[in-house]
Amino acid sequence: TVCVNLADHTTFGVTALCDTFIEVSTTAELRAALNDYPTARILGGGSNVLVANDIPGAVIKICLMGIAEEDGLVTVGAGETWHDVVSWAVDRDLGGLENLALIPGTVGAAPMQNIGAYGMEQEECFVHLEALDKTSGDIVKFTRSECEFGYRTSIFKTSHRDKYVITSVSYQLTTTANRLNISYKDVAIGLAQRQAPLTIRDVFEVVVAVRKAKLPDPAEIGNAGSFFKNPVLKSEAASKLMAAHPGIPCYQQDGGEVKFPAAWLIDQAGWKGFRDGDVGVHANQALVLVNYAAATGKQVLDLSVKVQTSVREKFGVTLEREVNVW
Ligand code: EPU
Repeated sequence: TVCVNLADHTTFGVTALCDTFIEVSTTAELRAALNDYPTARILGGGSNVLVANDIPGAVIKICLMGIAEEDGLVTVGAGETWHDVVSWAVDRDLGGLENLALIPGTVGAAPMQNIGAYGMEQEECFVHLEALDKTSGDIVKFTRSECEFGYRTSIFKTSHRDKYVITSVSYQLTTTANRLNISYKDVAIGLAQRQAPLTIRDVFEVVVAVRKAKLPDPAEIGNAGSFFKNPVLKSEAASKLMAAHPGIPCYQQDGGEVKFPAAWLIDQAGWKGFRDGDVGVHANQALVLVNYAAATGKQVLDLSVKVQTSVREKFGVTLEREVNVW
């Protein structure tokens, strides 16, 4: 419980100090830490947070480990690294998570923002999770419908924000009758070069290759993946945007709404590959803000505001942050 530099615990790698840093590897330790520091911030893999200021209080890092499986129902401690679990499943020919290979972060964070990539979201395999109720100290179970999953959201980001700490997550995976999800364009292109019948491992390997080609490795360049969410507009606003910018890519959603790629908007506004000192907009994916070496969290945040302002001026669209700012 000493003062720690959070640069070593977040994928953005920006320097920020916290007064107290506690790693917990059992629910009893978590309960005790929350008892001592009720307002502590909860950290997983640090892959979806930008620490823009020093933290005057405590940070609790979730290190609850373990993987158990029975009839394809896989229950994982919140502190396990997400990609390790995906690899573990692929090694056992258990399908369902392979499209989500190489997403940085821990298992506990996955349902919180309903991680998704390459045509699927974690909710598709999700069965239930367990979480510690910060007020009562009890462990509570949440089913899929109770989590109210949406695009990059759940109740743990909305009505239940900061009230629970996720301790374990259960996914139903399958060997038999596994239906591979190969709809996403980049994945389909990669798989076209492989021999049928396609396997879970084929999809896993192609997703890993696609991600490596486009997204910067946080071990080499600090980043937190997509910095903004893709904006979803009501049909009237969407029609106006499409009329004004005929080439704009778009994805129809249920209920008449339309999702637009933030990366395209940022790219068209001229930001792709932009660099100022140690902060920048990634050259292969305009949705990813990067810390080349010694940027501060404040510098990254300032750049993000400039990008937001410029996209708003050019397209009239407000980009919402995906990354949490501390
Ligand atoms: N595009 C550009 N310029 C760019 C990059 C992309 O114009 O610099 C265009 C592409 O041509 C394409 C569209 O934007 O038409 C979408 O690009 P991409 O397929 O790369 O996906 P994305 O919408 O930018 C989302 C997720 C990613 C996920 C990929 C793949 C969000 C916020 N991001 O990105 O998730 O890996 O799809 O499924 O939904 C993350 O959340 O951190 C993340 C990396």
